[in-house]
Amino acid sequence: MDDKWKTLEDATGLSVARDVSLKRFTSIGIGGLAGGAVTVEREKDIEKVFAAAAKLRIPVKVLGGGTNVVFSDTGFSGLLVRLGDSFKKIEIRFPRVIAGAAVHLSALITRTMESGLSGVEKLAGIPGTLGGAIRQNSGAWETSISDTVRTVTFWDIQDRRMRTLPKDDLAFRYRTSLFAERPAVICAVEFELQPAPRDVVLAEVNTRMRQRATSQPPGRSAGCIFKNPPDQPAGRLIDQAGLKGRRVGGLLISDIHGNFFINDGRATFADFERLVADVQTQVRERCGVKLELEVEIIRENGNQTKDV
Ligand code: EPU
Repeated sequence: MDDKWKTLEDATGLSVARDVSLKRFTSIGIGGLAGGAVTVEREKDIEKVFAAAAKLRIPVKVLGGGTNVVFSDTGFSGLLVRLGDSFKKIEIRFPRVIAGAAVHLSALITRTMESGLSGVEKLAGIPGTLGGAIRQNSGAWETSISDTVRTVTFWDIQDRRMRTLPKDDLAFRYRTSLFAERPAVICAVEFELQPAPRDVVLAEVNTRMRQRATSQPPGRSAGCIFKNPPDQPAGRLIDQAGLKGRRVGGLLISDIHGNFFINDGRATFADFERLVADVQTQVRERCGVKLELEVEIIRENGNQTKDV
């Protein structure tokens, strides 16, 4: 085997972990091995990693909390890039907040609440990091993260430079953003929040956590698998089609919520593909609706698909 990883290490000065299990990096726990994985701490690191990977023709995938992605059983032959602790800072500039993209949503909610700010608390209970939440425009209870975003600062992979764009230029819509189309490393997010008493914000957090605990299942999952079609929630359609409890290999449609697939620890990507196809076929036949994936699939060469 050529030592492309050693060449990449020499070019960047960063250490590359080899043959890393992707199960460990994703909440659903499916996937083979990643060829290499690197953690970046500075803007300069990002620049170097992308330059070296392009030269070596190594595909690159930036991963946040891994809560909305499913990797194939053959893994990903390229380089996983993860943001290190220096991207976990939260700066309060009341009522604005600037947070690094590796900040967990839960940390952002706690910190803004403690600072007497409201605006992100309805998202309480959503797992994952801020970068992933922005890319996917995560949301819950009629609120999306984009509602309170002011600007996003990112490394533009195509243009090879840092950019800061205002919310209006970021194409936020239901569960998508500019970043679904334009490859980028989201680095920081600026929010415009509202002053609010801590107790009021805490009450909202508790309400949402309780709602979530009763309507969404515990266990290894990637959250909702399908986007909600315009007229009916996907979970209800799957439920009405009588599919709850259906199992393929180690993957099970939750009895609590039809749009959650739970990995019992043995699930493979092949199980995932079969269960997705099965659900799509049955829901189309019974309800006349084509369900589209909400989660992102990443294949061996790094190609992302929105279908199995
Ligand atoms: N329902 C059923 N059966 C089920 C599941 C749901 O009948 O098995 C019904 C519920 O009773 C309710 C309706 O469907 O009347 C909607 O269900 P729910 O309130 O659970 O919300 P959802 O539309 O299924 C969306 C988001 C969730 C988010 C919740 C809470 C999508 C695809 N899902 O779910 O986001 O947490 O609202 O706001 O937009 C995610 O994106 O990964 C995710 C979990």
